[in-house]
Amino acid sequence: MHLNLFIQSRGHHEAAWRHPKSSKLPLTDIQYTVEMTQKAEAGLFDSIFLADVLGLWNDVQTTPFNWLEPITTLAALSMATKRIGLIATASTTYTEAYNLARQFASLDHISRGRIGWNIVTTWSPQAGGNFGNIGEVSHADRYERAEEYMTVVRGLWDSWADDAVLDDRASGRYADPKRVKPIDHAGKFYKVKGPLNLPRSPQGRPVFVQAGSSDTGKRFAARHAEAVFTAHLEKGTAKAFYDDIKKLLVEEGRDPSQVLILPGFSPIIGSTEAEAKRFSDELNGLSDPEVGRNRLSLRFGGHDFSHLPLDKPLAPEDFPDPKLNESSRSRTEVIVGFVREHKPTLRQLLAKLAGARGHFVFEGTPEQVADLMQEWVTEGVADGFNLMPPVLPEMLDVFIAEVVPILQKRGLFRTRYEGETLRSHLGLQRPEA
Ligand SMILES: Cc1cc2nc3c(=O)[nH]c(=O)nc-3n(C[C@H](O)[C@H](O)[C@H](O)COP(=O)(O)O)c2cc1C
Repeated sequence: MHLNLFIQSRGHHEAAWRHPKSSKLPLTDIQYTVEMTQKAEAGLFDSIFLADVLGLWNDVQTTPFNWLEPITTLAALSMATKRIGLIATASTTYTEAYNLARQFASLDHISRGRIGWNIVTTWSPQAGGNFGNIGEVSHADRYERAEEYMTVVRGLWDSWADDAVLDDRASGRYADPKRVKPIDHAGKFYKVKGPLNLPRSPQGRPVFVQAGSSDTGKRFAARHAEAVFTAHLEKGTAKAFYDDIKKLLVEEGRDPSQVLILPGFSPIIGSTEAEAKRFSDELNGLSDPEVGRNRLSLRFGGHDFSHLPLDKPLAPEDFPDPKLNESSRSRTEVIVGFVREHKPTLRQLLAKLAGARGHFVFEGTPEQVADLMQEWVTEGVADGFNLMPPVLPEMLDVFIAEVVPILQKRGLFRTRYEGETLRSHLGLQRPEA
C-alpha cells in the first residue's frame, strides 16, 4: 500500500485552520511544512504533495489556501528530509516548458531523486486573469496544449544521456557532446530547441503524477501518469475509476502495474466511534454553509447558487451540466453524481464537501480505518491513498501512531524505507533516456 500525505492549509477540513488542535504556526512559515513532512517521513510515507492554484481564491476573508509556492518549497523540504518523496503541482497551461523542465530536474538533483510532478492543466478560472498573454483557456484547449507540452518536457529531460558527463580533469573533457542532443521541437503551441542546460537527474525525470479525472483527463493519465490522484465521495465511483484507468492503460500499451491510483482519503479517527463523531461534529460546528456555497460556486466556474434554500433536497437540474464546465470538470461530475444518487439538501451537501472538498471522508476507530484501507486495496479500488488529514498535525499524528502499526502488522505497509528515490518507494522503473 502506498501512502502520500497531501499537505494543505492546517488540514483538509474547511474549518481546520480555526480548530484548537491545528498547528499554531503561520501558514507562510516553512517550518510548518517542514514539520508535516518530517512527520510523514517518520511514518515511512512514500511522499508528500503540495497543490497549487495560480490565483487568489475569491474568499480570502474565510479561507486560507495554497500559500508558499510549491517548487521553491520542495527545494527547502529536500534539505530538511532524507528519504521521503516530494511532489509539487505545476501547470502545463501557464508555465514555460523549458523553465518547468529545468526546475524539476534541479529539484531531482537537489533531493537526490525524490521528486514528483503533479501535472495539472489548472482548473481555477482566476488563473487566466493573471497570465494576460494566454487568457482563460478552455478545457479541451488546455489538454491539447498539455499533450504537446509532455513531448517537449520529456524531450528536454532525455536530452542528456546518463553517461554524458565525464568530468575528467586529466583529459580536460567535461562532457561528451555526442551524448547531449537538441530536441528541435516546433509544434502548434511550442518551439523549443533544447537541449536542457542541466545533466540528467537521478530519476531520469520526475515521477509523473496526474490529477484530472474527466474523460480527457483519464486518457491523458493513461498516456503519461505514473501515479494518479483522484477524488471520490463513494467507493463505487472509486472502483469504476480504478477499472477504467487500468483498462485505458492496456489500450495505450502500458503496464497497469506501473501506474498507481491513489484516491483522496480523509479519516477522522477516534479511540471509539463516538469520539470520532464528536471530533467531526466539532469541526462541522466551525464551518459556515455560506463559505461552502461560495466554494461550490468557484468549482462550477462562478455559477450563482445564492437562490438555493439550504434545507430543500437538491436535484441535478440545480447545477450546470458538468460536461460544459470549463474549470474542474471531474470534480463537478463527482458532486452532481452524488446529488443524483442521494438527493441531499444544500446544507447536507456542503457539510459533505466541507470535509475534504469532494474526497472520501470516514469517521471511525484506528481498526475501522485500517479495515477500510485494506478493503479498498485488496478489492482493486486503490493502490494506496492520498491521505488528507482533516486537521494537521493532530489527525496525522493519530494516523501514524495508531493506524500505520496496524497496516504494518497486517503486512500491508513498509516497516522501513528500502530505496533512496521516489521511484523506488513506488516500485516504478527508471525511464531510459
Ligand atoms: C488530489 C488532487 C489534487 C489536485 N490538485 C490540483 C492543483 O493543485 N491544481 C489544479 O489546477 N488542479 C488540481 N487538481 C485537478 C483538478 O481538480 C481538476 O480535476 C483538473 O484540473 C481539471 O481536469 P479534469 O476536468 O480532467 O478533472 C487536483 C485533483 C486532485 C484529485
